[in-house]
Amino acid sequence: MGSGLGGVLTHLANVRPDGRYIGVEAAPLPFFWSWLRIRLGSHRNCRVKWGSLWDCDLSQYDVVFAYLSPVPMGKLWHKARAEMRPGTMFISSTFTVLDQAQHETVQVDDLHHSTLFIWHM
Ligand SMILES: C[S@@+](CC[C@H](N)C(=O)[O-])C[C@H]1O[C@@H](n2cnc3c(N)ncnc32)[C@H](O)[C@@H]1O
Repeated sequence: MGSGLGGVLTHLANVRPDGRYIGVEAAPLPFFWSWLRIRLGSHRNCRVKWGSLWDCDLSQYDVVFAYLSPVPMGKLWHKARAEMRPGTMFISSTFTVLDQAQHETVQVDDLHHSTLFIWHM
């Protein structure tokens, strides 16, 4: 959700080619950049949609990953709870959901030392 320049998508497509990855990005330039990146990289197991995450039906995904901002997290949590299937996973990088204790956290060894907040739905 908010797949930006497509770095997460293309990385996952490379390291876990057995998965299928779909990004959604609202901003035209990052969308176009990621679309080109996927096309030039010949990634057959990922694609990106131009549009708003609020129009996505989350019921079709096993894992939903978001890296957004603190502002939409409450609304996104309610959407995820309403649409995601039991046994699936909701992951937010950096921004947690107020009053919703996560089930796991993972510290990532990346540039920003990001924290992943993970909920099992
Ligand atoms: C913090 S950036 C993260 C980019 C990327 N996921 C990454 O890991 O580098 C958040 C991205 O979410 C996008 N975004 C914000 N609101 C959105 C919405 N309602 N629908 C789709 N994308 C959205 C922004 O345009 C931006 O590219």
